[in-house]
Amino acid sequence: MNILRDKVLKMLDDAHVQYELIKLPAGISLDVADHMKFHGRPMKYALATMIYVTEKGMVAAQRRGDTKVSSKKLREVLGVKRLRLATQEELGKLGLTAGLVPPVALDIPLYADKKMLELTEIYTGAADNEYGMKTTPKELFKVSHPTMGDFAVYEEGVVQQRVLQGMRPTGRLHLGNYLGSAKGMVQLQNDPNYETYYMVADVHAITTPYTVAELGNKRRDVLIDYLSVGLDPEKSALFFQSMVPEHAELSFYLSSVMTVARMQHLPTFKEKAKQYPEHVTMALLNYPILMAADILLYKASMVPVGLDQEPHMEVAREVARKMNELYGMDFPEPQSLQTATRYVPSLLGEGKMSKSVEGSSIGLTDDLATIKKRLAGAPTDSGKGYIKNGIYFAKNAVVDGTGNVSPSNGVKSLLEFVEIFEGKEKRDEYEKQYVGSGIRYGDLKAELAEAIDRELAPIRERRNELEAKPAYVDKVIKEGAERAKLIASATVAEVKGKMGLG
Ligand code: ADP
Ligand code: TRP
Repeated sequence: MNILRDKVLKMLDDAHVQYELIKLPAGISLDVADHMKFHGRPMKYALATMIYVTEKGMVAAQRRGDTKVSSKKLREVLGVKRLRLATQEELGKLGLTAGLVPPVALDIPLYADKKMLELTEIYTGAADNEYGMKTTPKELFKVSHPTMGDFAVYEEGVVQQRVLQGMRPTGRLHLGNYLGSAKGMVQLQNDPNYETYYMVADVHAITTPYTVAELGNKRRDVLIDYLSVGLDPEKSALFFQSMVPEHAELSFYLSSVMTVARMQHLPTFKEKAKQYPEHVTMALLNYPILMAADILLYKASMVPVGLDQEPHMEVAREVARKMNELYGMDFPEPQSLQTATRYVPSLLGEGKMSKSVEGSSIGLTDDLATIKKRLAGAPTDSGKGYIKNGIYFAKNAVVDGTGNVSPSNGVKSLLEFVEIFEGKEKRDEYEKQYVGSGIRYGDLKAELAEAIDRELAPIRERRNELEAKPAYVDKVIKEGAERAKLIASATVAEVKGKMGLG
């Protein structure tokens, strides 16, 4: 039994504070870093409470784990001249032990660094080394009522970079989206050096013709796909773009630094204008600026997108540079995550895999029978030929449904999928067969279908589970948007101030 812990918990319970007690492993050190390792969360989510001695008496100061207290700043906040950490003996007089100071019930004035307010989860101790506690600053402050101040500075090396990515809700995800983007999203989420914000770009969806009655379900579908591939709302903020109106607001401010001519020359704009000649709207022209706003709103430096998004990424970098030069902002120039599968070819062999090209894709939640059917539609050749500069040429020109195929681009696509799902050695084997005894495409496709199915099966299963939990999905989206809004509103306020609109 621990008297102080009981007092702390009683205070929290009396004030209906939401928290979770977490049993710590026996013998864990008092080091905060060890605790955060155990919780599997980055240092920034640790809450440290330090006790200081000043000429006016003792005070407690709370900071995030990725910051340190600047004694100059804290002296200013407290209005004192002298400041030092309390000794073990002085702590003892307060009934405390170094390393085990609880976040509430301290009986001395409490100050909290304002950077804590950006966090929607926080880990701290409960006055002993047996239990840790997870809560939020907002909940905790309901009891402790600290004086907020700006006295902590980021510690070198522990600053996390931010990541933002969005997908338009134009249909269910396919292997191109998964390999080109979603896998990278999961990888960055699980890397403690990054803080991840992932949205469904529903505002982008209205830049081309769409059906109002379908948008609601479509954006939800993408969000459930995000959860199905392993995005974890405990780690990533998951939300709909339109829930954070700062995206649209910032995009207008940013549009003032880019010319119409620059936007009209983008290949993506030209393609869409050709595809929808009746809908060449201002919103379509503004598409890349809205995407730049998405990224810059979070000051994100990393964006896990496929190769086709590179022209848009260049616009985002240009906007960042201009805003920094003209208005003294500090936007990082965002980079695309470089992965081996940034370009996933169409099953048909021409161009990239895309929702909008019939027969080009395999859906993320297709079952084995469907995967087989889609692979069956991939064009092949006689199975024998030669390879020159990575291009496959059949010995005899073959005729398939679409006429003469030479070179055999469909074969190239298939072998790329073999490499992705079955490994490079397998591809080498098939290439040997191609220039030798010949490939039997029936066998190749059957094996490839099994390999793809093995990777997709767990995603399908999670999707089925999630579809039965609508309230959970709603909660994830609501909380994700709240987290995003904290950062987004701060950036918009800063931009407005720098642009003379504050
Ligand atoms: P689609 O072209 O099928 O409409 P989106 O434009 O919605 O797909 O793309 C969503 C994300 O998936 C983007 O980051 C995009 O770069 C990526 N992506 C889409 N198709 C591919 C592909 N064939 N190869 C690699 N990445 C892709
Ligand atoms: N333009 C992206 C696509 O077509 C979607 C998108 C919107 C996006 N906003 C973004 C991607 C921000 C990355 C970051 O796929």
